[in-house]
Order: sequence, then C-alpha cells, then structure tokens
Amino acid sequence: MIELQNIKKGFGDKEILKGVSAVMESGKVNLIIGASGSGKTVMMKCIVGLIKVDSGAIRYDNQDFTAMDDREKKEIRQQIGMLFQGSALFDSMTVEQNVMFPLEMFGTGTLKEKKKRVEECLERVQLKDAAKKFPAEISGGMKKRVGIARAIVLNPRYLFCDEPNSGLDPQTSLLIDQLIKELTVEYNITTVINTHDMNTVMESGDHIVYMYQGQKQWEGSNKDIVFSKDQKLNDFIFASEFLREAKEMRQLDMFKDKNWRDQLGKPGNQ
Ligand SMILES: Nc1ncnc2c1ncn2[C@@H]1O[C@H](COP(=O)(O)OP(=O)(O)OP(=O)(O)O)[C@@H](O)[C@H]1O
Ligand SMILES: [Mg+2]
Repeated sequence: MIELQNIKKGFGDKEILKGVSAVMESGKVNLIIGASGSGKTVMMKCIVGLIKVDSGAIRYDNQDFTAMDDREKKEIRQQIGMLFQGSALFDSMTVEQNVMFPLEMFGTGTLKEKKKRVEECLERVQLKDAAKKFPAEISGGMKKRVGIARAIVLNPRYLFCDEPNSGLDPQTSLLIDQLIKELTVEYNITTVINTHDMNTVMESGDHIVYMYQGQKQWEGSNKDIVFSKDQKLNDFIFASEFLREAKEMRQLDMFKDKNWRDQLGKPGNQ
C-alpha cells in the first residue's frame, strides 16, 4: 500500500500539486486519470522519488519515503518497477538484453539464474520467440510487453505505468491492461497507472483517482463512476453523446443487480 498525505509540488511560482491525499492499494490496479496538464506525471514522479515534493508525506507500506536517507530510498526504489511512456527500450540491445538490464544493475545470483529469470518474464508476456530481436524489429504492443517484462524482472512490490496504452489500438490496449492486472493480482503488487484510456477506466478501474487542476477531485471505482454526480468527472469521462448513452445503459444494467442497488444511497456515495 502507498499513502500520499497532502503532497504539494510547484515549479517556480506555479503550483502543480495542491495538497493531494490518496491511498494506492496493494493487489489492485490504481488509476490516476485527468485531463492533460492536470499533474498526473508530476504526481507519479513524486511518488517514485524522481521529483522531490515541497511538502507532505509518501508512505510505502507505512515507511515514510519522504523522510528517508539516500540508502533507505534506494532500498525502496529497488522494489519499484516502472513502465515509461513510449516504453523507453535501449535500441542497441536485444529484447532479452533489455530485460536483463535491471538484473545486471541490481540483481543477485549467478548468470545462469539471471538468464532463467529473463526467460520466465519473457514467457509471462508471451515474447519468448522475440528474445533475439531488436526494438526496431517489433511492434508497439510488443515493445510495451518488453517494457512490462523489464519492469517486473526484479519482482517489484510496486509497479508504475505512465500511459501504458498510448499509441496502441483498442484491442492491444485491452491485452496490455489484462496483463498488468493479472500480474498485479498474481504477485500482490501495488500498481499505479496514469491513463487517458476510457476502456482501461471502465474495464480495470478497481480504484480510480481523478485529478483536476492539481487536486484530487474524485475517488472511487469504475462502478461508482457510472452513478457519480460529480459534474467535472462526468464531463471528463462521458465526453461524447455516444458515451453518455453507454453510461445510461450501464446504469440500467447495474440497477438490475440488487447488491449494487442496496449500496446506492449509502452515506459516502458521491
Ligand atoms: N519539470 C517541470 N518544470 C516546470 N513545469 C513542469 C515540469 N514538469 C511538469 N510541469 C508542468 O506541470 C503541469 C502538469 O504536468 P504533467 O506532465 O504532470 O501533466 P499530465 O497530467 O501528466 O498531462 P498529460 O496527460 O498530457 O501527460 C503542466 O503544466 C506542466 O507544464
Ligand atoms: Mg503525463
């Protein structure tokens, strides 16, 4: 579990994060959504320590990351896997060399053990056959999968993905989402995803944080979204006539489910 407590970050006199508090739960895919420029990437960089917060605290499983010295921070960082936007693979290295890289930097064990781990991860993302290929020889979706294999090779407890679906077709996007979700549940990882992708929100949004102009505007699940009355969230998610109609149909469907109907109207339902 990762806890953000009133984190603030500005650049010059521009305030970007204006006091955000949220909890990223373990074994779940936690989504950060919001319009371009709302502060999603800055927030993710703050959480992993690539940017230093101005104030507030970030706790990794109850350990205060913001108060740690460099050695302690390094220990946390080694438990973090990160999938960068655009995959950020090394072009001059083969697929298997890319996945091997974090193991060479931080891994323990013999070369044989490391090679076995690379093979396992490539198998997990169904890329064993592409092990000897270079990034220029594989598709965008395959590159994302290599990025995922590289992010999980050190068995991370925390996984961060900044726009994992950018540039992918809807079907490939869904496969990437499924893979990230399966890995999250299988290894009980605390996963945080920045996304613009509405399919991701509706299909794998167990826990969603909606950012609006540097503040947390709304928080809930993909089921809550369908009934939320938050106007800003609704304008953002259901931006087209088509999506507004789809929302009404989903509402009707969900209303047939008695368990869900009973939850509606309970205190805290926004
Ligand atoms: N290093 C920096 N120095 C100054 N301003 C920055 C820096 N990084 C980000 N910003 C500003 O912070 C704001 C939020 O940027 P951020 O990249 O977090 O947005 P985002 O929500 O991730 O958008 P997108 O959906 O387009 O990726 C923007 O106004 C951006 O210009
Ligand atoms: Mg961004």
